[in-house]
Amino acid sequence: MSTPHLQGEKGDYAPVVLMPGDPLRAKYIAENFLENVRCVNEIRNMFGYTGTYKGTPVSVQGSGMGQPSIGIYSYELFNFFDVQSIIRIGTAGGIDEKIQLRDLVLAEGACTNSSYVKQYNLPGRYAPIASFRLLRKAAETADALGMPVHVGNVFSSDLFYDDADSLADWQKMGVLAIEMEAASLYMNAARAGKEALCICTVSDCPLRNEYTTAEERQTGFTKMMELALETIV
Ligand code: HPA
Repeated sequence: MSTPHLQGEKGDYAPVVLMPGDPLRAKYIAENFLENVRCVNEIRNMFGYTGTYKGTPVSVQGSGMGQPSIGIYSYELFNFFDVQSIIRIGTAGGIDEKIQLRDLVLAEGACTNSSYVKQYNLPGRYAPIASFRLLRKAAETADALGMPVHVGNVFSSDLFYDDADSLADWQKMGVLAIEMEAASLYMNAARAGKEALCICTVSDCPLRNEYTTAEERQTGFTKMMELALETIV
């Protein structure tokens, strides 16, 4: 069944979906890493593809930027397309002092300033967390590939341009990096009884005014792709 944002039919998506923010990244992954690929979504140019990696069916679907956008796409994938697991593969800004440009971060938990959680009417604060199964598998896969990773909290912000400049406060709590999607993805997974993980490559360290070049971001992205794909086979 197609939805307002995804035109595919049930069965068009594999049980595991990788989600980059940028739909052209989804196209790049499909064209360079997958076999037997077909395009399953073109609505709003938010491209989605399904194929195989080393024989395992896998889909890649762009999420767009921010929690409302990934909230929509991940909700539809989990609830209308029988998707079991979503692994976000994105970029993040380093916050903790030990985080360097191009490092990989596995988001064990996702702090947020988003109001996404309000819909659940919980009588307290909710702690969005990754699927332990996916997190452990990704950490073990990274070890096996000889790729160092940081595992811990990220801050899923609704603001890229933040007048309050809150990063130093999150740093005091040991938060590793800032991105804009993990918390709502984790909440959708929890509510649907499904699994999610967010893997990020560090594209900038805003507290130190350090930034990667486009070429470095591409290299970092390829490393993260390899980790995500080897995690799911
Ligand atoms: N802020 C929010 N999201 C990000 C950043 C950032 O500095 N870098 C990469 N994604």
